[in-house]
Amino acid sequence: MQALTASSPASSSSTSVHRRGGGAPRTRTRSAVRFAPPRAAAAAVRYAAPLKPAAPIAPAPAPSPAPAPAAAGEQGFGEKGLSFLQRAAAAALDAFESGVIANLLERPRSLPRSADPAVQIAGNFAPVGEQPPVRSLPVSSRIPPFISGVYVRNGANPCFEPAAGHHLFDGDGMVHAVRIRNGAAESYACRFTETARLRQERALGRAVFPKAIGELHGHSGIARLALFYARGLCGLVDPSRGTGVANAGLVYFNGRLLAMSEDDLPYQVRVTADGDLRTVGRYDFDGQLARCASMIAHPKLDPDSGELFALSYDVIKRPYLRYFYFRPDGTKSDDVEIPLAQPTMIHDFAITERFVVVPDHQVVFKLDEMFRGGSPVVLDESKTSRFGVLPKYARDASEMVWVDVPDCFCFHLWNAWEDEATGEVVVVGSCMTPADSIFNDDSDSDDDRRLQSVLTEIRLDTRTGASTRRAVLPASAQVNLEVGMVNRGMLGRRTRYAYLAVAEPWPKVSGFAKVDLATGDLVRFDYGEGRFGGEPCLVPNEGAPARGEDDGYILSLVRDEHAGTSELLVVNAADMQLEATVQLPSRVPYGFHGTFIGERELEAQA
Ligand SMILES: [Fe+2]
Repeated sequence: MQALTASSPASSSSTSVHRRGGGAPRTRTRSAVRFAPPRAAAAAVRYAAPLKPAAPIAPAPAPSPAPAPAAAGEQGFGEKGLSFLQRAAAAALDAFESGVIANLLERPRSLPRSADPAVQIAGNFAPVGEQPPVRSLPVSSRIPPFISGVYVRNGANPCFEPAAGHHLFDGDGMVHAVRIRNGAAESYACRFTETARLRQERALGRAVFPKAIGELHGHSGIARLALFYARGLCGLVDPSRGTGVANAGLVYFNGRLLAMSEDDLPYQVRVTADGDLRTVGRYDFDGQLARCASMIAHPKLDPDSGELFALSYDVIKRPYLRYFYFRPDGTKSDDVEIPLAQPTMIHDFAITERFVVVPDHQVVFKLDEMFRGGSPVVLDESKTSRFGVLPKYARDASEMVWVDVPDCFCFHLWNAWEDEATGEVVVVGSCMTPADSIFNDDSDSDDDRRLQSVLTEIRLDTRTGASTRRAVLPASAQVNLEVGMVNRGMLGRRTRYAYLAVAEPWPKVSGFAKVDLATGDLVRFDYGEGRFGGEPCLVPNEGAPARGEDDGYILSLVRDEHAGTSELLVVNAADMQLEATVQLPSRVPYGFHGTFIGERELEAQA
């Protein structure tokens, strides 16, 4: 197995050991997003702000069988609900947007690839319209009958044309659902998650909420924030209902399917009896999350206790991080406020049997960078990455032990466990370099060869403060691995296997791999020429993992870009052979995370 050094995680051949306090700190802080000088005319894309109501770029929504009612006061948004003064204010603010922001601040600058809609929502990243349930899907071969329930997958699907910059992560959340029962693929449907943001933009007929990653850069970003704030003051928008897109994660907990993004509270989405999806509403756990404006999109469901562990980070005010959990009946623990020196992007974390493991890495938020023309999402190279290990039932952050792991950025963590033999906490994640590459891609190439995503075992010794890192794959077999999972019935316990997408190219992926985390052995399932997909979702068999950790099937959505077809693949996790293929009736864009909800859980929906 290949080992890593802290300074060069992808290329070294010796195991790195870091001890707390070692090494000279770096002092340079670099803005994560740079506006490149205008490129050649063919490549340059310039800002243009369509201020008149624009046709949605996602095709018109199909009628939902049971549309969620509008929230109180929501009908007030849009032209019909405005007073004379509000109309005048709206016109003045629109003029400011087109005259000052679009023409003076944005138009002179070209967009980096990471904010260029022509790149970010091209090809099969382009949005689709909603799809009511289509029944009796063609299936090649046979779906194992134990797979009974619904596979749901979240993704970004911008409803309206971006006013300016747009990052892949900025799009409105859409959930795709394939209903499977008795060996048959009963239906496919996809629906927007009806966020407060989307509903207000629908009423106004265009995008007005700031796009956190693609739009908020430099002075134009400040101007767009000010514009949004002014529209709020005039009653043209209401950010108090939530500003998030709910496009990243999905979890089923305590009778509710929750669609989540870390910029807002979760939204509850109900799977209806006919396989359709209906947004119930923004869910604050019956008021228990009233003190939090957001919850991360990767809460962890403990397979033994049934508890749901979560974090909430704040980019503006202290405390910058809170930890809490929900008991199986949905009641929430008290918050543990975790002191951080600066607001930090924490997209994911991990649990063991007794601990939660929290990354505190170098991608941070510095809002004042916008005054210097940069992005508020910053790679702070003066900061030493570290992991915090906190007892699950801690009442105070003083119980947390921090262990430095220099130059480490894991956007996702696949699992963690306690090694009884060594007393260490073992964390398995994909170490991404450059750490900010998914937010800061100003290269000219469609093929992002800069990105490396190295599957890594990180060992944390909370007694000594020492850490080690080891690349799981040998150097000769190194391949970028991202989005995936372990057997969820073993989350927090030592797992032999992880199932991860082969992130080459990135961000669409060419297949997935079953990796033996102990030996580094890897078995690939390649989608084939011109075919790409996303996160593999392992559905454990009834009785697994007792009958075997890999006793189950992997579901994965695949797009054949040559044939123009979308499919759901069912692959046997034990031998990695294709078991069945479900033909889907319409295009499914590449997306983010998914989960499988079994029959009993579907019946128990709140
Ligand atoms: Fe994620």
